[in-house]
Amino acid sequence: MSEGHIPVLLEECMELLGRAGLDRVSARVLDCTFGGGGHSGAILERFPACRLTAIDRDPEAAPRAEILKGLFPDRFSFVDSNFGELPRLDLGGEFDAILFDLGVSSYHFDTPGRGFSFRFDAPLDMRMNPREGRSAAEFLERASRVELVRAVRDYGEEKRWRRVVQLIEEARGSGLLARTGSFCTLLQRVLGAPRPGRIHPATQIFQGLRIAVNGEMDAMESALPAAFDRLRSGGVMAVISFHSLEDRIVKRQFRREAGLPESREDNTPQQSRQRRAELLTNRPITASKAEQEHNPRSRSAKLRALRRI
Ligand SMILES: C[S@@+](CC[C@H](N)C(=O)[O-])C[C@H]1O[C@@H](n2cnc3c(N)ncnc32)[C@H](O)[C@@H]1O
Repeated sequence: MSEGHIPVLLEECMELLGRAGLDRVSARVLDCTFGGGGHSGAILERFPACRLTAIDRDPEAAPRAEILKGLFPDRFSFVDSNFGELPRLDLGGEFDAILFDLGVSSYHFDTPGRGFSFRFDAPLDMRMNPREGRSAAEFLERASRVELVRAVRDYGEEKRWRRVVQLIEEARGSGLLARTGSFCTLLQRVLGAPRPGRIHPATQIFQGLRIAVNGEMDAMESALPAAFDRLRSGGVMAVISFHSLEDRIVKRQFRREAGLPESREDNTPQQSRQRRAELLTNRPITASKAEQEHNPRSRSAKLRALRRI
C-alpha cells in the first residue's frame, strides 16, 4: 500500500494486536497514525473480519486513505484530525486494538516543499498539518527562550544548545531562518559543515524543531490516556516511538495502567495504585538487524504494548 513509507516493526505489531482476537466479526481497530496506510492495510488484510478506523492530521494522508477505502469500502474509515483531539472525537464505541506509530512519515521527509528535510532547499515549514499553528520559520522568529531551549536541548538533545539558541536569537529578522538551506548554513557556524558519510550536523536540531512545531509531546500526553479509555477489556494498545522522550511518556503511562511505579522517583503508595492493564512488553521491542538494514528509519523504533484487563 505505502510505496513511500515502509511500515516499521510490522510483524511484531500484527502479533501483539492480534492477541486482542481480531478474527471476530465485530472486532474494531483504531490506527491513530495512518501515514501511508502501511499498518492499516496490513491489519485489514491479515484480519479479514475486522473494521478499522484511521486518523491522521496531515491533509495529504486523506487521498492515500481514499485508496484503502476503495479496497475495503465497508471495513475502513478515515478521520482527518489530530489524535490529540481523541478525548473529544466521536469514533463510536470501544476498540479491540489501538496503534500509534509516532512521528513523521517518509512522505514528509521526501516531499521537498514541506520543509522537513535539509536535503532540499524549501520554506522552513515542518507542520504535519499546514492549515494550523505556526511554521518552523515563524517559531524560530517568535518563540520565547524557554520554547527555544525546549526544542533545541530537550527535543533535539543537542549538546551545544546554548550556542544554537543564541545563534537563532541573533539571526532573527535577517531572513536566515526562513528556509531550510539558509538555516542549515547558519547552524554550520556552531555545528560545523556536513561531512561525507557522517550524520548531517543539523539532524538533531531539525528533529527538535519538528517536535516543537507540531506539539508532538502534548498531543501524545492527551491522546494516550484517552486511547486507553476507549480500549475494551481484553483489548491491546501498541505504541511505536522514535525518541527517548516519547518512549518515556509511553513507558510511564503503561506502567501506571499496570499498577506499577512509573519511575524510581514514583513514591505513590501501593494501595493507591490501580491495576487496569498487563504489560505485553516488559522491555520495548526493537527492530531486528535485517529490518534495520532494509529500513534505516527503524533503527530508533521502540514498540511497547499492553492489554487492558
Ligand atoms: C510514522 S507515520 C505512520 C506510518 C504508518 N504507520 C504507515 O505504516 O504507513 C506517522 C503519521 O502520523 C501522523 N501524525 C503524527 N502526529 C499526529 C497527530 N498528533 N495526530 C494525527 N496524526 C498524526 C503523521 O502525519 C504521519 O502521517
